[in-house]
Amino acid sequence: MPIKKVLITGGAGFIGYYLTKELVKRGVDVVIYDSFMNYIPPLESRYSAYLEYRLNDIKNDCYIVRGDIRNRGNVIRVLNETKPEAIIHLAAIPIATVSNQFSEEAIQINLNGTVTLLECIRAVSSVKKFIFASSSFVYGDFKYEPADENHETSPIDIYGGTKLSGEILTKSFGKRYDIDYTIIRPSAVYGPTDANRRVSQILVENAFLGKPLIMHNNGNDRVDFTYVEDTAQGFALAVLNDDCRHKTFNITCGKGRSIREFIDILRNYFPDLIVKELPADERRPNRGGLDITKAENELGYQPANNLEKGIAKYVEFIKTTNVLKK
Ligand SMILES: NC(=O)c1ccc[n+]([C@@H]2O[C@H](COP(=O)([O-])OP(=O)(O)OC[C@H]3O[C@@H](n4cnc5c(N)ncnc54)[C@H](O)[C@@H]3O)[C@@H](O)[C@H]2O)c1
Repeated sequence: MPIKKVLITGGAGFIGYYLTKELVKRGVDVVIYDSFMNYIPPLESRYSAYLEYRLNDIKNDCYIVRGDIRNRGNVIRVLNETKPEAIIHLAAIPIATVSNQFSEEAIQINLNGTVTLLECIRAVSSVKKFIFASSSFVYGDFKYEPADENHETSPIDIYGGTKLSGEILTKSFGKRYDIDYTIIRPSAVYGPTDANRRVSQILVENAFLGKPLIMHNNGNDRVDFTYVEDTAQGFALAVLNDDCRHKTFNITCGKGRSIREFIDILRNYFPDLIVKELPADERRPNRGGLDITKAENELGYQPANNLEKGIAKYVEFIKTTNVLKK
């Protein structure tokens, strides 16, 4: 069945913004359902500036509704009013450190919020497909690399635990109530307008601001940095594909890159970078590259930006929008 209208929970966020643009480009109507929540303390955050930028860019191309995923009555009302054929579920506390610190809140939003949405799908007739945004944190420490979708899931933190629980409940509802679901596992998404103070945002912004770049563990930690437009491409392909019912996909760049490499690329733009070395950070999963062969073969996914290209775009965005001076 062709999907013509999609509701994105958390659609006003970082990934949601790019996904909205990607779907609109592909001729899909988009409804954004978002509570406009920021989990970073306001004085440390540029949330408002980035949110304003995103909303100004997409407000004429989609329908934006304020609402919390945990408010069942409101979700059902919006679904009945807008009648999307699919939901892409991005709304969450998306930051591992915050989820770990505020575990009960993370469970309420990341897990219970997901269950509420699944119950809402049962209560309406229009929604035929549910796409769940999981995370590479479900794997815990990688046992081999690149980690494919069959790698054991053994999260070592609360965030990964909430995402794995969300996956399990998505599957349970899907099988019990015949909901067509697909699970997407992104990793270390980076790019313009990220406001969650992830390592990539801090490194790029500190380089612009002339502040020292903190490098833990000799810069050896490796993750599968993924440029946000590629992440959006993966979600769009999954929701529009008729043949990915009950499947799970890694959607990443497909290569593990170290923090040291990230900093070295930045040095091309900022030769005088100051780097401060510190011991290993808090316990985080020992990750690396993910295997994206399944998404390439079954969805036609093709990440277009390696780290060099993605950082170039990120740097150019900050230069041209002057966003850090505002
Ligand atoms: N960015 C990454 O590196 C990354 C990696 C793996 C997985 N993910 C997952 O992708 C999804 C999107 O992440 P993001 O980076 O765009 O985060 P984001 O914080 O930029 O966007 C999340 C959006 O969800 C909304 N939201 C939060 N709680 C809500 C609630 N209770 N009801 C309704 N809306 C709510 C927020 O207002 C925000 O606009 C998350 O589920 C995250 O866990 C992200």
